[in-house]
Amino acid sequence: MDEITIPKPDDWHLHLRDGAMLEGVLPFTARHFARAIIMPNLVPPVVTAADARAYRDRIMAALPAELDFTPLMTLYLTETTDRADVAAAHASGLATAVKLYPAGATTNSHSGVRDLGKVMPVLEKMAEIGMPLCIHGEVTDAEVDIFDREAVFIETVLDPLRRRLPELRITLEHVTTSDGVNYVGAAEANLAATITTHHLMINRNAILAGGIKPHYYCLPVAKRETHRLALRRAATSGDPRFFLGTDSAPHVDPLKECACGCAGIFTAINTLSCLAHVFEEEAALGTLEAFASRNGPGWYGLPVNNETVTLRKRPSAVEWPDRIETGDGPVTVFDPMTPVHWEVA
Ligand code: DOR
Ligand code: ZN
Repeated sequence: MDEITIPKPDDWHLHLRDGAMLEGVLPFTARHFARAIIMPNLVPPVVTAADARAYRDRIMAALPAELDFTPLMTLYLTETTDRADVAAAHASGLATAVKLYPAGATTNSHSGVRDLGKVMPVLEKMAEIGMPLCIHGEVTDAEVDIFDREAVFIETVLDPLRRRLPELRITLEHVTTSDGVNYVGAAEANLAATITTHHLMINRNAILAGGIKPHYYCLPVAKRETHRLALRRAATSGDPRFFLGTDSAPHVDPLKECACGCAGIFTAINTLSCLAHVFEEEAALGTLEAFASRNGPGWYGLPVNNETVTLRKRPSAVEWPDRIETGDGPVTVFDPMTPVHWEVA
C-alpha cells in the first residue's frame, strides 16, 4: 500500500502558545488537522471561561483565512478554580475539558495542583456533568526518579482518584510507559490515553547517547525501548481508548539550547508523515485511521471529520526545514532520525 486516505485527523493535545509564536505555528497544525485540544499553560494560564474565550478569539484571529480549524479549549485547573465557572464553560460549549498539571511537573505548571483535596469539588462537578479531565500524569517528588514519575503517579494519584470518583472521565495525556498503557488497557470505563508521535519514534537514547540533544527532551521524558514498543502496540491496536495527542510544544531554540533547556518537541509539521511511517513499520496502516481520526472524537463525543487527508508514499525521503522562523525566533522541527517517505498529498 503506498497511498492511504483517512478522515481528517484531530490533535487531542497541542500547545499553540500565544502572540508571535501562535501566529508562527498555528498554520502547520491547521493544514493537517481539523480540530485540536488546546493546552492552557500560557503565562498567565487560561483558568477561567473568560480567559478561554479571549484565547480562543486570539487563535481564530491568528488563523490564515484559507484554513479551517476548530480549537477545543481547556481550562487550567488551580486550587482556586470556580466550579460554577467550569460548568458554565462546558455547558456553553466553550470548554471541552479541564487540564490538571501537578504543580511543578512541567512548563508553566507552577499554578497547578499541589493538594488534590482542594480541587475535589470541581472534579465532582465535572463527573456530574460528564466533562473530561486531561491529566499530566507525573508525580513531582524530588526523590522519585524522573523515569519512574509516570508509573508512580498512576499508582499513588490516578488510581486512588479513579476509585474515589469512578464517574469522572479522565484522559491520561501523553502516556510514555508500558505501565501507562497497561493501566489504561485494563480500565473498565471512563479512562483513555493520548500518545505522542515522538514517543512512538524515539527512546531515551535519542536524548542522551552520543551527546546531549535538547531537541529530543520533553516531558514526560522518553523512556527505554521496551516502553516505546508498548506504546506502538497500543497506538496500532485500534483500541478506542488510545488516540493521537501530538503534544507539539514549540520553544525558541535559545530556550532549548542552554544550561537548563525547556521541555517540548515541535512536531506539528511532520506528525502525519511520521505516523504513517510508524504504522507502516508495524504493518498496521489500516489502524492509523482509528488512532488519528476516529478514537478521539469517539471519546470526546464529537463527530468524525467529513473532510479527508491522503498520505502518499514516495520514492525519495520527505524533507522538512530544520527549523521554522517565528516572530519570537527560530523553532527546531522534530527530526525523526530516519528517512520518512510518507507525505501529505
Ligand atoms: O514537553 C512538554 N512540553 N511537556 C509538557 O508537559 C509541556 C510542554 C510545554 O508546554 O512546553
Ligand atoms: Zn503538553
